[in-house]
Amino acid sequence: MITLRGVTKRFTGPDGPLTAVDDVDLHVPRGSVQGIIGFSGAGKSTLIRLINLLERPDSGTVEVDGTDLTAVDEAELRRRRTKIGMIFQHFNLLANLTAAQNVELALRIAGVDKAARAARVAEALAVVDLADKADVHPAKLSGGQQQRVAIARALANEPSVLLCDEPTSAVDPRTTVSVLSYLKEVNERLGITIVLVTHEMNVVRAIADDVAVMDGGKVVEHLELDGSPLRPETEIARFMVDDRIRLRSGRDLEESRAG
Ligand SMILES: Nc1ncnc2c1ncn2[C@@H]1O[C@H](COP(=O)(O)OP(=O)(O)O)[C@@H](O)[C@H]1O
Ligand SMILES: [Mg+2]
Repeated sequence: MITLRGVTKRFTGPDGPLTAVDDVDLHVPRGSVQGIIGFSGAGKSTLIRLINLLERPDSGTVEVDGTDLTAVDEAELRRRRTKIGMIFQHFNLLANLTAAQNVELALRIAGVDKAARAARVAEALAVVDLADKADVHPAKLSGGQQQRVAIARALANEPSVLLCDEPTSAVDPRTTVSVLSYLKEVNERLGITIVLVTHEMNVVRAIADDVAVMDGGKVVEHLELDGSPLRPETEIARFMVDDRIRLRSGRDLEESRAG
């Protein structure tokens, strides 16, 4: 469904040029959930933004649903983008619009005519169990409900791919479970391929089929989440897998390395 080949993105930072994403290859099969994990600054957000070409790669190709997005013109790219939904850590809802109006705006931007919009808004809000909040403004909704509106907004255009950048990083642990369960349902029931960026192993563990571990702009390791015990090989992956070592003594660290 998504294939990145040799994708590199450079920026000019305050200390000069930096390579945010460095020669990454990634293949995400149709209907799967791909996790991307790493510390702050690893290049996760840049990588996910390269998938819908919000960032254009300096080199490499980005194929989504059989089309190389780096090779199409702007008009075609805009059309393709409507089939790639995105949600963010801070929801990015418009405060002056109701839940339904936020969802409808995405349809308007995509050029869906008025007659079709109302039904699509209702369907999308129903998927995330917010039909009863259609006329409520974001400020009156909890963080979890706001993120569900954002999911509905992303679903309204009937995407084949949903990109999620730290979708649970601004909500409490119980709400995290709720948001993840909706994402899982979207994946299983609607068959939408999901890419989920996070810095928390527990989050990807809950729903991903495979996790790409990023460090310094590179994918340094893949962890398959098929229920068998994880066997991280790189130091960074071990650290992400075993949260304990952040909380306990140096001796635990020794033991986790030995084991
Ligand atoms: N638009 C930008 N301009 C300059 N540097 C950027 C830009 N976006 C990201 N970076 C830098 O690229 C690196 C990776 O950033 P990012 O992809 O946001 O990482 P993550 O999401 O893993 O925290 C960081 O060093 C960041 O400062
Ligand atoms: Mg980020």
